[in-house]
Amino acid sequence: MSLRPDFLWGFATASYQIEGAIDQDGRAPSIWDTFCAIPGKIAHGASGEVACDSYNRTAEDIALLKEVGAQAYRFSLSWSRIIPLGGRNDPVNQAGLDHYVKFVDDLLDAGITPMITLYHWDLPDELDKRYGGLLNREEFPLDFENYARVVFKAIPKCKYWITFNEPFCSSVLAYSFGQFAPGHTSDRTKSPVGDSSREPWIVGHNLLVAHGRAVKVYRDEFKPTDKGVIGITLNGDATYPWDPEDPRDVEAAERKIEFSIAWFADPVYFGKYPDSMRKQLGDRLPEFTAEEAALVKGSNDFYGMNHYTADYVKHGDGNPPPEDHAGDLTTSKTNKAGESIGPETQSFWLNPNPQGFRNLINWLSKRYGYPPIYVTENGTSIKGENDLTREQILEDDFRVKYFHDYAHALAAAVAEDGCDVRGYMGWSLMDNFEWAEGYETRFGCTYVDYEDNQKRYPKKSAYAMKPLFDSLIKKE
Ligand code: NOJ
Repeated sequence: MSLRPDFLWGFATASYQIEGAIDQDGRAPSIWDTFCAIPGKIAHGASGEVACDSYNRTAEDIALLKEVGAQAYRFSLSWSRIIPLGGRNDPVNQAGLDHYVKFVDDLLDAGITPMITLYHWDLPDELDKRYGGLLNREEFPLDFENYARVVFKAIPKCKYWITFNEPFCSSVLAYSFGQFAPGHTSDRTKSPVGDSSREPWIVGHNLLVAHGRAVKVYRDEFKPTDKGVIGITLNGDATYPWDPEDPRDVEAAERKIEFSIAWFADPVYFGKYPDSMRKQLGDRLPEFTAEEAALVKGSNDFYGMNHYTADYVKHGDGNPPPEDHAGDLTTSKTNKAGESIGPETQSFWLNPNPQGFRNLINWLSKRYGYPPIYVTENGTSIKGENDLTREQILEDDFRVKYFHDYAHALAAAVAEDGCDVRGYMGWSLMDNFEWAEGYETRFGCTYVDYEDNQKRYPKKSAYAMKPLFDSLIKKE
């Protein structure tokens, strides 16, 4: 047993992926509603219109969390339920806000610790239309600050706050690849608007400044009385050199982590972007003004870590195209010796490699001075899961093994390597809307029957989590 007695474990979800109820109680559209309506963007033309209908099933979801023994629940708020038009001069929708206030009260009554993500990709659509949403360096951070303040004020009982989920995805997938809302890209076969060589870096910058503003508000106006903690959640894969004998691959493996994680974490901990990024991107990577740097530097009470997989990395030719976001390199799932990084899943990008998780926890801990880490997402899809019968799906041994191996890798990083990991949220409490992949890919520890009134059936993995963490957490 190696994890601290107050180690917090549970499950995670996000508003647009589970809530449905897109027109209820005054909610206005988010950029995801708009994006899903464009033919060809989402597998099978799916959307979050109904999803798991969690907006109307809060009692059922809390009962599910209790049933599987979860201590904590990470979920996100839909900004356009709370401030439908999004901006700092737009009205607050009391019904939308009250919904979340009550949900937090109900979780606490059930003995479950809430962890709230303010922004999990569903920007109020109006802000995108009004001023270009995340691209706007002046307006966006101020509107986010205002939204954050409204929420902090209404929900003092929440003690764990995450500003942004995976800003890398909000930047690269949404403004370089055009795969996520609002779908910008330089590829004119996919979108009439976008500049993949510049927009992702601008969006990343604005998200960092908005994060810094919200953290300042929390620390100045709420933390002294509410005594919670706040941080940003970053995603990033572990890396191994494709050819460990080639120093250029060794360097590229390091650079990949810098371009995905340190892009955000270096500013948060050091107040500047990594040198490798400045070198490749030049003035396409914005500079922090003195005021911005002061807001961003030192703005994490904890590091929120989303992590799923690992890659082998091969160096590029030293001449990356302007659209390159990765750091002049390519990734693959096999190395020079032909070894595979891990078994296939339903997600083309995800191959389990628990050793990579331990390595990356160490990488982060060393670079950022052993900060407290909460793993805010970790989980897996299963190849072909959606084609099985319900009975078969419930026996998700592949997922059980994934959680077992990753939790043990985490425990080793704590007990043997001295890293400070304080929590773990499995992705996801239930099957849900997997963005551009629609409902094909299931990440849930609970099966959701979309054909039969979104009924929930916990899988084996949902029940496996409690004994797993009971075996790893020290008793008080
Ligand atoms: C990370 C994202 O935060 C979440 O929304 C998504 O469903 C999972 N990864 C799985 O892809």
